[in-house]
Amino acid sequence: MTIDLAALPEDFLWGTATSAYQIEGAVAEDGRSPSIWDTFSHTPGKIDNGDDGDLACDHYHRWREDIGVMRQLGTNAYRLSIAWPRVMPGGDGPVNAKGLDFYDGLIDALLEAGITPSVTLYHWDLPQVLQDRGGWPVRDTAHHFASYAAVVADRLGDRVKHWTTLNEPLCSAWIGHLEGLMAPGWTDLTAAVRTSYHLLLGHGLATQAIRAAVPGAQVGIVNNLSYIEAATDRPEDVAAARRLDGHTNRWWLDPVHGRGFPADMQEVYGVELPEQPGDLETIAAPLDWLGLNYYFPSTVADDPTGQAPRVRTVRRLGVPRTAMDWEVDAAGIENLLLRLTNDYGASKIYVTENGSAYPDIVRPDGTVDDPERTEYLEQHLAACASAARQGVPLAGYFAWSLLDNFEWAYGYDKRFGLVHVDYKTQRRTVKGSGHRYADIIRAHGRKRRNAA
Ligand code: IFM
Repeated sequence: MTIDLAALPEDFLWGTATSAYQIEGAVAEDGRSPSIWDTFSHTPGKIDNGDDGDLACDHYHRWREDIGVMRQLGTNAYRLSIAWPRVMPGGDGPVNAKGLDFYDGLIDALLEAGITPSVTLYHWDLPQVLQDRGGWPVRDTAHHFASYAAVVADRLGDRVKHWTTLNEPLCSAWIGHLEGLMAPGWTDLTAAVRTSYHLLLGHGLATQAIRAAVPGAQVGIVNNLSYIEAATDRPEDVAAARRLDGHTNRWWLDPVHGRGFPADMQEVYGVELPEQPGDLETIAAPLDWLGLNYYFPSTVADDPTGQAPRVRTVRRLGVPRTAMDWEVDAAGIENLLLRLTNDYGASKIYVTENGSAYPDIVRPDGTVDDPERTEYLEQHLAACASAARQGVPLAGYFAWSLLDNFEWAYGYDKRFGLVHVDYKTQRRTVKGSGHRYADIIRAHGRKRRNAA
């Protein structure tokens, strides 16, 4: 498949992404306290096969090797998340020096390897002590988040310029507090709406804290958006698609762009927002870039008796699917990139996650063959390049994920890595898709040099 690499800027960031709980392990080492994910994953019945993140990819001890793997791929950027319970085991202080030291060493080594670190402050691992005090439904949590952000920014900000406040707040709010399928496992609409509000407030406060601590910081937020279509043109289904768009996309994008929380969705939820004077301005703190996580599109119909937003997903026949049962359709990523540019006026966008899970074939010689993931990667990169050709200010792409890892409620069965992890031996093996990614990155470099 041809990818229009010439459409991508010279200084394009070619990266991979991970998150702390999914790869680090070492959950009880060097002063880290439990997070809500430790609690959730140790609650019987919550995670497939009874898996947990206790060891994961043992990245806490193998990070030097993992940087070596990034060098093998030829990536020039790496998106990682910081574990709040490592840095502030008590949730709101004091600081755990050993926790910060870990990230400090990692950042130095990345920079030495010529890899730009992009740091996410919250990828769902709220310290359990803060959950015990009410968690995200409580306003104080947003302020604690900003204090933690200030500490990390102060320590790493001399070297880290790319900052993400929140990763996929939708998952924390809707999946964690409404659907109950992620930590903390609640099914309470009021708590979910309050969580969404306080997450975005925390985002705004943390943005201010990062800017105060880091001259030249480039701050953004990462959302997992969906390209949504109605299953039919019945007015009920069209309205359902509009509601899901509100739930998945507009609820997260509008407030940070100064448009407030969508009125139609406030009506759908029927939950009073815990708004205080000045909050909306804080939430709309100017951003340097937007992060898009894209995996699959959604086709939906009305579900009048379902829970908010009262939609049901309709399976499209003949569309390929990944091991997650997610449809493969790269048109969605192109469409969303254009929407962020045209409707939200984004001046810089990163694809901060994109990838696919498939059962990998480990050959007798130890190599790992994953043609479907390779095709997914090529198709989505081609769609990104096409968007860039149409004027989307796309500045980088981070493949999800560097390594196979703990895929939340699905445990270790679902493998998203460009690099295979044998969980028994912790051996890392670059998959066929990883080799293809390396080729594409090299080809982009050659184009750049030839153009010079
Ligand atoms: O593994 C997750 C990641 O933590 C957040 N975005 C989606 C990925 C795949 O489900």
